[in-house]
Amino acid sequence: MQKRYFLSALMVGLLSAYASNALAQEKFKIGLILPMTGPFASTGKQIEAAARLYMAQNGDTVGGKKVELIVKDDTSAPDVTKRIAQELVVNEKVNVLAGFGLTPLALATAPIATQSKTPMVVMAAATSSITQASPYVVRTSFTLPQAAVAMADWVPNNGIKKVVTLVSDYGPGIDAEKFFKDRLLFNGGQVLETLRVPLRNPDFAPFLQKVRDLKPDALFVFVPSGAGAALMKQFAERGMDKAGIKLIGTGDITDDDILNGMGDVANGVVTSHHYSASHNSPLNKKFVAAFEKANAGLRPNFMAVGGYDGMRVIYEAARATKGGSGDALLTAMKGQLFESPRGPMFIDAQTRDVVHNIYIRRVEKVGGQLYNQEFDTLKDVKDPGKSK
Ligand code: DHB
Repeated sequence: MQKRYFLSALMVGLLSAYASNALAQEKFKIGLILPMTGPFASTGKQIEAAARLYMAQNGDTVGGKKVELIVKDDTSAPDVTKRIAQELVVNEKVNVLAGFGLTPLALATAPIATQSKTPMVVMAAATSSITQASPYVVRTSFTLPQAAVAMADWVPNNGIKKVVTLVSDYGPGIDAEKFFKDRLLFNGGQVLETLRVPLRNPDFAPFLQKVRDLKPDALFVFVPSGAGAALMKQFAERGMDKAGIKLIGTGDITDDDILNGMGDVANGVVTSHHYSASHNSPLNKKFVAAFEKANAGLRPNFMAVGGYDGMRVIYEAARATKGGSGDALLTAMKGQLFESPRGPMFIDAQTRDVVHNIYIRRVEKVGGQLYNQEFDTLKDVKDPGKSK
């Protein structure tokens, strides 16, 4: 009796090992398209590193399938992003597209997601309208209106009345300008001028000269991740801070990737954003330590967190659907609620957009290093761009 039991247990064991082996040979493919070269390469580097960290921590098998991460460089050119997406869908038959370092890259790819019914996880791009470009878009980054409105609510209570805005002249900059301005006017503030600079190779000098002449209490800035250092340098060179003009903005300007290299001019700058590497939670401390360890001391920024959380959303949906694709995989992404290194995070099932806290932060020196220190929290902020 005992022997028979042993033998049948052995058979079950062998059979299930055989079955899981057979399944493990099937793949779950993630096509990760990022700017890995060119002016926005830091976004690609951060997101790829975060995706690889997530896989190292959570294994490369999910829902019974082996995960294959295919990373492609789109050089931040929209036609290249679109072509790569098409190839990944048609030739590689990826289960999901992911990445999208800039708004135009996400918008160029949205029709491919719709036509092929492939879920598309936007880990970086942050213009409000992206989730409306395809019903297959799910966003794990943030939206500019979320951050800009929070800043416009902070400003009038902190001795700032007259503001000039300066933004990169494309989707997220225009969102930041509009939502900051409308809210500040509603709150009784003034916007003296709205300035827009080119996205690529901006020369801030003539714009900053104009700001100096207008003498606002503060300059509100949005530039994409990586561009904040040049802005900060020219702001200091023109003596704007000494002239009593405060620099404020969304957290893209005090990006953790480059903040520590900005020097004293960054000290004291107040911004609004969904993630700081110094966010005070045990989960974030673990995330930052693991990320820095795996990447020669590189500090994770908000792009890394968008990538890490995007992988979480993909893995959980793959688990729930046993490595599924198309509408089933998309459905399993909607409504996910979990703790992120940024804090609590929710994928709204209706909008497929992220709902999370927005923090007001001030750059301070901690242990000799510059960090965005969070000092106020707006809880569970939905994208204000969707309520129109
Ligand atoms: C976008 C890009 C960024 O680098 C950023 O910080 C915010 C938004 C974008 O193109 O959507």
